[in-house]
Amino acid sequence: MSQKYNDTAQNRDRFTITAALPYTNGPIHIGHLAGVYVPADIYARYLRLKGKEVAFICGSDEHGVAISMKAKKEGTTPQEIIDKYHGIIKKSFAEFGISFDNYSRTSAEIHHQTASEFFKKMYEDGKFIEEVTEQLYDEEAQQFLADRFVVGTCPKCGHDGAYGDQCENCGSSLNATDLINPKSTITGSIPVLKETKHWFLPLDQYDSFLREWVIKGHKKDWKPNVYGQVKSWVDEGLKPRAVTRDLDWGIPVPVEGADGKVLYVWFDAPIGYISSTKEWAAREGKDWKPFWEDSRLIHFIGKDNIVFHCIIFPAMLQAHGDYILPENVPANEFLNLEGNKLSTSKNWAVWLHEYLEDFPEKQDVLRYTLTANAPETKDNDFTWKDFQSRNNNELVAIFGNFINRVVVLSQKYYNGVIPQAGTFSEVDKQTLQELKKYPEIISSSIEKYRFREASQELMNLARLGNKYLADEEPWKVIKQDEERVKTIMNVALQIAAGLAVVSEPFLPFTSEKLKQMLAFSKLESDLQWNDVAEKEILLPSGHTLEKASLLFTKVEDEEIQKQLEKLEATKKENNAAQKGETAEVVPQKDTITFDDFTKLDIRVGTILEAEKMPKADKLLVLKVDTGIDKRTIVSGIAEHFKPEEIIGKKVTVLVNLAPRKLRGVTSEGMILMTENSDDKIVFINPDESEVPNGKTIN
Ligand code: MF3
Ligand code: ZN
Repeated sequence: MSQKYNDTAQNRDRFTITAALPYTNGPIHIGHLAGVYVPADIYARYLRLKGKEVAFICGSDEHGVAISMKAKKEGTTPQEIIDKYHGIIKKSFAEFGISFDNYSRTSAEIHHQTASEFFKKMYEDGKFIEEVTEQLYDEEAQQFLADRFVVGTCPKCGHDGAYGDQCENCGSSLNATDLINPKSTITGSIPVLKETKHWFLPLDQYDSFLREWVIKGHKKDWKPNVYGQVKSWVDEGLKPRAVTRDLDWGIPVPVEGADGKVLYVWFDAPIGYISSTKEWAAREGKDWKPFWEDSRLIHFIGKDNIVFHCIIFPAMLQAHGDYILPENVPANEFLNLEGNKLSTSKNWAVWLHEYLEDFPEKQDVLRYTLTANAPETKDNDFTWKDFQSRNNNELVAIFGNFINRVVVLSQKYYNGVIPQAGTFSEVDKQTLQELKKYPEIISSSIEKYRFREASQELMNLARLGNKYLADEEPWKVIKQDEERVKTIMNVALQIAAGLAVVSEPFLPFTSEKLKQMLAFSKLESDLQWNDVAEKEILLPSGHTLEKASLLFTKVEDEEIQKQLEKLEATKKENNAAQKGETAEVVPQKDTITFDDFTKLDIRVGTILEAEKMPKADKLLVLKVDTGIDKRTIVSGIAEHFKPEEIIGKKVTVLVNLAPRKLRGVTSEGMILMTENSDDKIVFINPDESEVPNGKTIN
């Protein structure tokens, strides 16, 4: 074999499509769908319609510190966390029509076995360096700190919240000991260095492989953002990376002398693609091997996963030696929400399960909006306004309107039986010609991973239909030329059938509904992608349609308003929480006795007069009715209140404080006050405004 690496499948018609395994430490939101799962699903559905052999593979990523931390936070076990979120995530995918052939989980037996064997083979082939090094250790928690158990300043970009294995700000992959000012996320303490043994993948030895394979080999066909990142990492110089950890949650390192150690989550998770393929093949009675030995492997991921899929996993695959390398890794950028970064911890997200509560049966609308505005070449913003206008102005006004007219008119004129076309006019011929071009136009965008563009071409096909009907006006022509209308409706119905086929990858629920209306099940054979261009006619005359029903309905302003208000409320909560966090909480003072307490004479009073102390910016001179007397109290609140605003206010007064002179005025007591979350001074006043002056507080 002359080939040094294996990334060109002989079989061009077999595809192994993977979508990043989501961490089961929370539900999934629109960012996940837009970045990874919708494009992957469009691709997989498209290839199936083209008659390709496809394994569309995913599963839950259930190891790693992300899971342990969530369990700690919720006061439960990692097992309970993964069971809970695996269920929620799997359900969301199903509800949004993500058509995985298999959705597995890395806690599955088959995965533990596959990952262990993978490690063992590399170990036996001498692909690791075994080394005792100093690693970060939290003495209070008595635990080594790696990955998300430690945060610090990123040595590459200076970001403060970089993790021990990766900086999410600049995407760099890091070793925990690279962090500047590391801090334990378990106890908050500063870690010490302690010796421990680990197995390292010597990435530096893969330098020439990566240069050859990616930098020379994929300059043209990989997305510039992906290619550029890989190149810059390789150019910076790669270092050995530990692929084991001192943790108690994960896959035990399957060699002697590795007690208490597990595989690094980013070592085991991508092997999950292989285990999930095995699980699927076993269930379907297929052979899994061709999908990892001679298949076109495509990884769909978000940009924070690039280094793992383009450098580390390929180096592992290359070291292992039995499997193919990815042909492409079409990573997307990030999606923002209404101008701010999506964030699970700040609850700044549209959660899929919540979306469906508010917009039941509008899965395709979200899929379409996220595709039409996908963060393919740069970060993009999801806005509810855009969502509304994609729905109302495109799906309802163009696609839905066209289909509705076609089916309703066919029912009205012909009882749903497709009429025989007469002689085609020039416009008819051109229109049918146009229709036949669309599969190729859309294909070409999809095959370049340009899903936004593809979705717009799909809409253009609906536009073609809409325009054809608007120009031909069958509802007018019917009055003078019934024969002509038969031809018009026949042509329009062919377009509707074409739309039903090519919309499937993008709008699977809509396509299904449309196929039902057009009674596809009564056709001799199911229509495939290429049929739209190749078949003379898609729906024969005499074929009977089902009843018309609406494909899309309008999204009203109130519905959008409700979503915006929800986000506004989240913003407020976050601001309040942030203030609470940063507000300095003064430590508790020394203990006092009950007698000490009873010495304080605190009473309800009313401010009768207030005026500024001459030549003092901060002081107000108050006359207060304490119920016992009316006395003068000097208070340092002139910067917070105007005298006139506080006259008549109920306040709480410490009345037996020894008098003191301030600027020549004797102050006899103190008004009790605090600060609210906006750092504004507020009086402590009884809730019950009826409380008379002089009442004591105890
Ligand atoms: N769980 C990772 C994340 O959410 C992705 C893992 S992808 C795999 O960022 F390759 F490891 F499976
Ligand atoms: Zn960084």
